Amino acid sequence: MSFLELQDIKTHFPVHKGMFGGKVTEVVKAVDGVSMTINQGEILGLVGESGCGKSTLSRTIMQLIPATSGAVVLEGQNLSALPQYEVRRRRLDFQMIFQDPYASLNPRMTVHSTLAEAIRQRHKDAKGKVLDQRIAELMERVGLDQRFMKKYPHEFSGGQRQRIAIARALAPEPKLILADEPVSALDVSIQSQILNLLLELRKDLGLTMIFISHDLSVVRYLADNIAVMNQGKIVEYGEAEEVFNNAQHSYTQKLLEAIPRIQHSA
Ligand SMILES: Nc1ncnc2c1ncn2[C@@H]1O[C@H](COP(=O)(O)OP(=O)(O)OP(=O)(O)O)[C@@H](O)[C@H]1O
Ligand SMILES: [Mg+2]
Repeated sequence: MSFLELQDIKTHFPVHKGMFGGKVTEVVKAVDGVSMTINQGEILGLVGESGCGKSTLSRTIMQLIPATSGAVVLEGQNLSALPQYEVRRRRLDFQMIFQDPYASLNPRMTVHSTLAEAIRQRHKDAKGKVLDQRIAELMERVGLDQRFMKKYPHEFSGGQRQRIAIARALAPEPKLILADEPVSALDVSIQSQILNLLLELRKDLGLTMIFISHDLSVVRYLADNIAVMNQGKIVEYGEAEEVFNNAQHSYTQKLLEAIPRIQHSA
């Protein structure tokens, strides 16, 4: 049984013309027939230019928006067929990391309260020393000093904030992390630290990841497999190095040419 199976997923958005929701005059086919299998512990890199449907696909996988058709099957269970309460429970298995940690963290919550809230999503009664211990563990896990526990997001650097966001994603003990452009807003030197942290988490916790980026060189660094998306469809899929060195599709070649600084390795 594969960990995650995407079966011919379509997510179409009807566009209403005129005020007050007039007639549907057009349909945006943001995701248009995506099928893929992702194995446990795999990092899938999902690339493609702006507007090709990457975020919509990840939100569809998370069941945050309903698929127009097709199925998301997690560990043999068709998520689209589950009742809402069951979907909410299973959604804990998926956690997201976003591009801008400052926007995704609550500015009025300390690291402690942010992580406490995330831990309680799964362990409702967690409190006191056990809770504090778990928070300290999570902070250590992502390379943050526990002495920062009572600090607020604005007191951290961009890279540190992304570490807080990663700790928060880990808190409900997910099986799958969907990272949507998690390093795009960071300095290049900080980027590689965060990418290395993600690789470490995969190794130590056996996490499966879908890593979304418009930057093929970033994806190459950590993905096992790469899927190239264009206008709602996967136009190329394969082992990372293979896709990188031997792109078959002209669209992938175009993406490769768009990389400003390719480092040739021999
Ligand atoms: N709720 C919505 N209603 C209508 N159209 C939408 C909606 N969400 C996304 N779209 C459209 O679907 C297409 C795919 O958008 P999406 O955000 O998935 O792209 P993306 O690949 O994540 O782009 P980016 O790299 O800029 O984040 C776009 O044309 C977008 O305008
Ligand atoms: Mg996006």
